[in-house]
Amino acid sequence: MNYRRQCPSEMRRYSPELSGHSKAPPQRVADTDSKEVLSMKVSRPVAGLAPSPTMEGAKKAKAMQAEGKDVLSFAVGEPDFPTPDNIIAAAARAMDEQKTKYTDASGIAELKSAVCAATQRAIGVEYKNSEVCISNGAKHVLSNVFETLTDPGDQIIVLAPYWVTYPELIRLYGGVPIEIMTYAADDFQPDLDRVADAVTDRTVAICINSPNNPTGGMLTNESIEGLASIVTAHDLTLISDEIYKEIRFDGREYLSPASLPGMKDRTVIVDGVAKAYSMTGWRIGWSLAPEHFTKAVANLQSQQTSNPCSISQWASVEALNGPQDSVEQMRQEFEKRRDYIIPALQAIDGIECAMPGGAFYAFPDVSSFFGRTLKGMAITNSEDMSAYLLEHAWVSTVHGMAFGCEGFIRLSFACSMAQIEEGVSRIARALAGE
Ligand SMILES: Cc1ncc(COP(=O)(O)O)c(C=O)c1O
Repeated sequence: MNYRRQCPSEMRRYSPELSGHSKAPPQRVADTDSKEVLSMKVSRPVAGLAPSPTMEGAKKAKAMQAEGKDVLSFAVGEPDFPTPDNIIAAAARAMDEQKTKYTDASGIAELKSAVCAATQRAIGVEYKNSEVCISNGAKHVLSNVFETLTDPGDQIIVLAPYWVTYPELIRLYGGVPIEIMTYAADDFQPDLDRVADAVTDRTVAICINSPNNPTGGMLTNESIEGLASIVTAHDLTLISDEIYKEIRFDGREYLSPASLPGMKDRTVIVDGVAKAYSMTGWRIGWSLAPEHFTKAVANLQSQQTSNPCSISQWASVEALNGPQDSVEQMRQEFEKRRDYIIPALQAIDGIECAMPGGAFYAFPDVSSFFGRTLKGMAITNSEDMSAYLLEHAWVSTVHGMAFGCEGFIRLSFACSMAQIEEGVSRIARALAGE
């Protein structure tokens, strides 16, 4: 299959019109749910935000479950394992010890030191506490970083398929996301010439995410080195979202761009405890960046949110400094699930699916169904496909357009093996029109 034809970003970029929010939203919006018609003002940048499609998908699935339908959710990127006991105990200890007050706005020194030590172990780069800012999850880190970096009109190159939040946040802060598509046929590696050609005098940064959400693809060393050269040649910043770096398969090594010669000063690492330690609800993430940038991020955070939850910070100290066996156990379980779900999806007539190198997402190409009608429902795009699977297989997925890549859907396999087996067999039956 020719993925280049299936996934041309220039033609099928996620469109605000398609998603239902216009580029020039009205300044006053009516609350159609209430009896009274309200017209409270909403600012243009905020009115222009699309709701997170992954959260929306989960909401729809929950509503159907509330109606008694046995909907299987493959929509949310959240490990299904409990948070390890030693971390829970550390949180309880923090409460017993009344560690319940404001902390330094950029986080406690103990957690910054733990982040520096864990980062040194993982990528071999030495950081000081003054280069760390602890925030309310990696999403908040990204928000801080994009806001700190972006002046109106600044361009940030984002490799697509991308995590839904990047372009929305860049636009929120007046920046312009420039999408460069990567393709399954190229193992989701970027065409470096196209990236270099996309750099203009307004470009300030390149944003990467490896292992990637939604593809599960990992950038090769050559790709990372090539991107680092472009960043260096044009005096840019490289934003490296490394939230999935502990979840890698087939013994793959991890190369952070920050470890390349001269790149520590040009890289902002975004990371957190959510995925590796099954701590999505604790809301702890961090940036690692040069001291002056970190100071700016910390000032921003001190005015906007102050410190992240003190108890979660102490729990995260234990996550990073304590025993790491649960991280490896969860990783192995994700690898087992990947080894089941990808061949099972590939076995469905009409589906192609690349083997992810990390994270916990399958990103099958479903474009061969476009133009067909299944059970009276016309399937013209990935949004229709997601809606069809929800309606007729009671399986919730996220459509590819949300990630800037039409033709595909995303399934999170952060759920039990039993659910994966049942879900894939429902998908197979639904796509066969049964
Ligand atoms: C690529 C990527 N970055 C960042 C995040 C945000 O993580 P957190 O839960 O720490 O905010 C996610 C969560 O799904 C993600 O997939």
